[in-house]
Amino acid sequence: MNAMRPRRSVLYMPGSNARALEKAKTLPVDALILDLEDAVAPDAKAVARQQILDAVSGGGYGHRELVIRINGLDTPWGAEDLEMAAKAGPDAILVPKVNSAEDIFAIGHKLDAAGAAEGVKIWVMMETPKAMLAAGEIAAAAAAPAGRRLSVFIMGTNDLAKETRARIVPGRLPMLAWLSTCVAAARAFGLEIVDGVYNDFNNETGFATECAEARDLGMDGKTLIHPKQVEPCNAAFSPGEAEVEWARKIIAAFELPENQNKGAITVDGRMVELLHAEMAKRTVAIAEAIAARS
Ligand code: COA
Ligand code: MG
Repeated sequence: MNAMRPRRSVLYMPGSNARALEKAKTLPVDALILDLEDAVAPDAKAVARQQILDAVSGGGYGHRELVIRINGLDTPWGAEDLEMAAKAGPDAILVPKVNSAEDIFAIGHKLDAAGAAEGVKIWVMMETPKAMLAAGEIAAAAAAPAGRRLSVFIMGTNDLAKETRARIVPGRLPMLAWLSTCVAAARAFGLEIVDGVYNDFNNETGFATECAEARDLGMDGKTLIHPKQVEPCNAAFSPGEAEVEWARKIIAAFELPENQNKGAITVDGRMVELLHAEMAKRTVAIAEAIAARS
């Protein structure tokens, strides 16, 4: 499905902010979300659309994945946003407020009809109560022809808080069930999943804690709102040196002749199974992909 592509840091920027679009070319982010939706006021939508088209067509973003967040198709701007995105050819379009598998199919058909290249993926905002209830069905859309472009879930925690009245508190207990359900749904169908934003961007400790929490929940990375969040986020979602070393040790142990036909062995006094060797291979691969990037 997804090649080993780090998606630790995914930075939003308003498409109306030309300075941010330019600055993004120098930031050590894995992906950029060029926004036409929540971060752009109605009067600025047309200018933002043109600036995003120019930025994506102009290139200069190197390894950074470019994702255009369009307005919903039920808004006055959605159809034109989608046309522009199909023409610009970003790595993906990000669709807000999806509620069902049918929403994925509708976007898929529209992208096909607009002539979008096959490489243009669909990312979706998981941010409505209906999406929480239908997370598995939405992820399963990726297995159908019209949903084949679906590749990433982005948690929209601010909208979820608004729609459900759950509060955003340290530890996020009120949202934990939804976050975990979306992780399970994404993994069940080979998708990646990126956590919601941390609004209090000057609170470094709170942010680091939430990054670690998201990583432990199984998320691939976190969406960001400010450049100062990029480096701590990359650090939180990169396997640490000790983790990579342990992974290599497990792989090497299973490669020993005496362990060829074993499913469980002891390494440094701990039981490890073949499944740990598989996890270790992923850890090493992602560490190598990150190293290749810097
Ligand atoms: N992407 C790229 N660059 C950004 C940026 C972003 N999201 N946010 C700020 N910057 C840049 C600024 O342009 C400025 O660059 P410069 O000093 O080189 O000119 C620098 O980072 C410092 O910015 P700062 O003054 O601290 O922030 P601000 O007051 O200009 O903006 C926000 C604060 C929150 C309005 C801004 O960070 C923002 O728009 N974030 C994204 C919001 C968004 O997209 N929300 C939708 C999804 S939740
Ligand atoms: Mg939103």
